[in-house]
Amino acid sequence: MEYENKLVLAPMVRVGTLPFRLLAADYGADITYSEEIIDHKMVKCGRKVNEYIGSTDFVEKGTDNIVFRTCSQERDRVVFQMGTSDAVRALKAAQIVCKDVAAVDINMGCPKSFSVSGGMGAALLTKPDLINDILTTLRRNLDTPVTCKIRLLESSSDTVELARRIEKTGVSALAVHGRKVPDRPRDPAKWNEIADVVSALSIPVIANGDVFEYDDFEHIKVATGASSVMVARGALWNASIFSPNGKAHWEDVKIEYVRKSILWDNDVKSTKHTLKEMIMHYSCLEFPEGKAVIKSENLADLAKVYGEEEYYRLVSNNRSWYLVQRKKNRKPTWAHRKRNRLEPTARISGPNQTPEISNSPLNPKGDNVKLLGPLLSFNSPNRPLLLLLPPPSRSVCFSPWLPLTDSLLHKSESFPSFTFRAGT
Ligand SMILES: Cc1cc2nc3c(=O)[nH]c(=O)nc-3n(C[C@H](O)[C@H](O)[C@H](O)COP(=O)(O)O)c2cc1C
Repeated sequence: MEYENKLVLAPMVRVGTLPFRLLAADYGADITYSEEIIDHKMVKCGRKVNEYIGSTDFVEKGTDNIVFRTCSQERDRVVFQMGTSDAVRALKAAQIVCKDVAAVDINMGCPKSFSVSGGMGAALLTKPDLINDILTTLRRNLDTPVTCKIRLLESSSDTVELARRIEKTGVSALAVHGRKVPDRPRDPAKWNEIADVVSALSIPVIANGDVFEYDDFEHIKVATGASSVMVARGALWNASIFSPNGKAHWEDVKIEYVRKSILWDNDVKSTKHTLKEMIMHYSCLEFPEGKAVIKSENLADLAKVYGEEEYYRLVSNNRSWYLVQRKKNRKPTWAHRKRNRLEPTARISGPNQTPEISNSPLNPKGDNVKLLGPLLSFNSPNRPLLLLLPPPSRSVCFSPWLPLTDSLLHKSESFPSFTFRAGT
């Protein structure tokens, strides 16, 4: 994985699950970090391919508890962030997941008592030998790139000394959050102290702290000399911060996030937490929307709050229908899907052909549909295809669990990187 000139979604507990990472990537994030996952939890997990959702899940053995969910679409940009205080356990946990992610990162910046009391997060900053042990163990035993994320130390020279030591372990990049352990989020990030680290190191440094607008990416790059920038709260409040075309309205971003949560069957607690953070920033949890989100018990309830019942129904129906077909050992065909009025479905007869779009409740006339490219590569039928429906509809993600038609798959061999252009 390349770490130069990248826009990066920061790790965020209970926020950075699969739908939010995909949302940020849709808007332009190049690298997306998972929420921090503790090694103790990960070592108890087994890997399961979830055909029902189209995801790869890491599930706590003997339970249904999904600790980490990813999918092939994000394989080349997702960074698995881990909390650890022990090199051997960290390696064991990383080995379970490393083939399904682009990199493994160690959190060395979290100041919360839960992390620090367990010797993790910011507690590591005062233990350079342990840092060295963890990072070199991972580096020597994994083919996957290894990185870490730190906070600033008390003095700039201390931070630089630690960063140099970290660089020597062979990590691929270092993310620096420009705050010290006692600093609060409202305290301004010290971009000048990130600059000291950038000038002392030759590996890429990812600058993090106080990026709230697209223009801030450039401001922090100039101030620190870093070529890559990581953003947390700015993305949490409006994930379209990554878009060079300007921010989308937060209400639209929120709906897109709810849809992705439905499509990827996100943990409802994570979706609620993320929505609440968005609402608290732009509005107030005391208003009806906030109260309804708090009251929601599942994704169906949230779909109702946001007028997405139809989308929820389509996704659920598709899944049950697909499962029935699988039980009968049948592949869903184009005719099946048209007849069953599932999600709008595209069929294409060859390169540069206008796609034929089936009708569906989301697109009743089956017309006036633009396909966004390059979103479907024919040699990876698992990658979803995005359709942009005419306003006021929103984009629709073709679910990976709906296989493409046989004829399409057959043709794929002859033009493997075909890209859809606009079609009407
Ligand atoms: C909701 C939330 C959750 C966070 N969770 C993590 C985490 O899991 N791991 C981590 O290294 N940092 C975590 N952070 C810190 C951010 O990654 C980032 O370093 C910090 O918020 C500064 O960036 P910002 O000014 O862009 O918000 C979290 C921050 C927020 C707001």
